[in-house]
Amino acid sequence: MSLSLIAKSIGESATLKLNEVAAILRAKGDPVIHLGGGEPKGKAPLDAILAATSLVTSGEVRYTPPDGIPALKQAIIRYTEDFYGWRPAPENVMASGGAKQAIMSALHAILDPQEEVIFPAPYWVSYPEMVKLVGAVPVPVEPEDGSFIPRIQDIEQVIGSYTKAVILNSPNNPSGAVYPAEFIKDVVELCEKRGLWLIMDDIYHRLIYDGRKLINPYDFATDRTDNSKLIIINGVSKQYAMTGFRIGWAVANTKLIEVMTNIQGHETSGPSAVLQHAAAAAINGVQSSVDSLRTTLENNRNVLIQELKAFDGVRLEEPGGTFYSFPDFSHYDKNSVRLSEFLLEKVQVVTVPGIEFGKEGHLRLSFCGSIKDITDGIERIKWALDPNAPNELYIGERKLVRDWS
Ligand SMILES: Cc1ncc(COP(=O)(O)O)c(C=O)c1O
Repeated sequence: MSLSLIAKSIGESATLKLNEVAAILRAKGDPVIHLGGGEPKGKAPLDAILAATSLVTSGEVRYTPPDGIPALKQAIIRYTEDFYGWRPAPENVMASGGAKQAIMSALHAILDPQEEVIFPAPYWVSYPEMVKLVGAVPVPVEPEDGSFIPRIQDIEQVIGSYTKAVILNSPNNPSGAVYPAEFIKDVVELCEKRGLWLIMDDIYHRLIYDGRKLINPYDFATDRTDNSKLIIINGVSKQYAMTGFRIGWAVANTKLIEVMTNIQGHETSGPSAVLQHAAAAAINGVQSSVDSLRTTLENNRNVLIQELKAFDGVRLEEPGGTFYSFPDFSHYDKNSVRLSEFLLEKVQVVTVPGIEFGKEGHLRLSFCGSIKDITDGIERIKWALDPNAPNELYIGERKLVRDWS
């Protein structure tokens, strides 16, 4: 079949695939524990549900402006003012079908074929594929010291004549690392100095723990004009537990937003009217659900840290945000795909192989499920990997017998 070279270079989303695998096994009645998930389990805010149903029941669900309905753009403007300390104009804002589409439209708008985009590893699975989709070249860069916290030298040393943009995602998927303010400042300054676009993927920015303060990249920008190449990406998926609503946004200079809107207008005509109303209501509504989500996740994270600390051979850098941890399992198996498959087959625990995020030897374990999922899941993993564990493990009525060493 004559598919395009670009299309053929794009891999499946490992995380979405694992959701499917978990759902199939569950439907078969297998006692699967899904530690690979990427979405909070709570319900969407009531304000969002009411706004969506009210529009649907009106029966008048129409096309919207491709950059979003005025009510959503106003909500995003207010959000930006609250969390980033400046009030963008409506022309600085575009709503999208998820943060994913906002990033995609930005990449389409700024990149020509062969140009390069730098991002630290471990990275979100979609960045390399998104960059390749527009014919450009992903340049992942691993912190030289092997940690999850990049240093400015790591970024500097891979900048070349083809470099067009940098993407930062902090708090980070998959590591949960919160990059230090000093590093963000250095990158903002470096990008300004070198004329590079800087895409800040802030989708997890309110899901931070231990009393951390939000880091605002605008605090470090010296160029506050409409020529600024700073692009802020955010959305309702994670903080409002609204992953299925598919609403995200970009805030950037007016020319870029105009071009992104042209692109989005031809690609999708903009996101669904129903979901835009829901997102606006979530952003404008009672914010207690975000606080309680943060508290729940912090508690889950603490449990997971305790469980993993008691796990000989596993090394963990404690996540400061998100709902992911990225422990090093290389003591047990350096091949993360093989290890992840082994755990699924033997003890029905879904994990995501580190290699999907550009770092071998690690597994991504999510803590967005229940405490029971976390404790049972890690107990099963321990049982599967510890050669001194008893020969049998009960999962409910089911008896697992170790047939490996
Ligand atoms: C780092 C990162 N950016 C963006 C997204 C996509 O968010 P959305 O659901 O708004 O498309 C995700 C989702 O997993 C993510 O982890």
